[in-house]
Amino acid sequence: MSRVLVAAGLVGLVALSGGCRARPPEATVVAPDSTTLAEMRGAAGGLAGGLVGALTAALARGGPDSAIAFCADSAQVLTARAQREGVTVRRIGTRVRNPANQPDSVERRLLEHLAAERSAGRPLPADTVIVVAGAGGSELRLVRPILIAEGCLACHGDPATMSPGVRQTLAARYPGDQAFGYRLGELRGAVVVAKRIPRTD
Ligand code: HEC
Repeated sequence: MSRVLVAAGLVGLVALSGGCRARPPEATVVAPDSTTLAEMRGAAGGLAGGLVGALTAALARGGPDSAIAFCADSAQVLTARAQREGVTVRRIGTRVRNPANQPDSVERRLLEHLAAERSAGRPLPADTVIVVAGAGGSELRLVRPILIAEGCLACHGDPATMSPGVRQTLAARYPGDQAFGYRLGELRGAVVVAKRIPRTD
């Protein structure tokens, strides 16, 4: 169970890039030093780029039915591989397909806020960095929104328009699947890069 640090003067959500200035409760946004920020952004871009590239190739090879096998197996592998010393990278969703991608309560509040901003037509920050305190110490988390593009709808859109093969494979592999019914341009989730903050005591 983690809780967000509420530091004096830093309460509220302030976008680090982009024009968003709205304030959801209990999120503390910080501006890490430029080396840390560059490292975290690099890790987020690496995962997002690696997945999109591999997914595009899998779709070209065998269409959505066989690309699901890629998503199911390789996405988790790529996510694990993206781990660097002290840094982990994963994907979360507003409604998830794989329970392993479930956001924690802090991430969920941030996703709900970003989804509301998106629905209201306001621009989202490219990424947001928050501080989260847990039993094992504090960590920085960079949260980068993921939006639904045209190609995503084959597996995350309206089930009525999905190919029967995709529907069957998803139903078999993900009995609790909630990651469908999205519309073009909607917030789908986020890439989260987490980095432990070393203890100073
Ligand atoms: C070929 C089908 C397919 C396509 C196309 C596809 N996805 Fe997925 N997506 C999946 C599957 C399967 C999972 C579950 C992966 C896992 O087990 O981690 C998933 C998981 C995710 C997750 C992690 C959260 C969750 O629900 O478990 C996000 C975020 C995501 N997809 C975004 C996208 C985006 C954005 C696109 C378009 C660029 C896209 N997907 C295209 C099948 C697909």
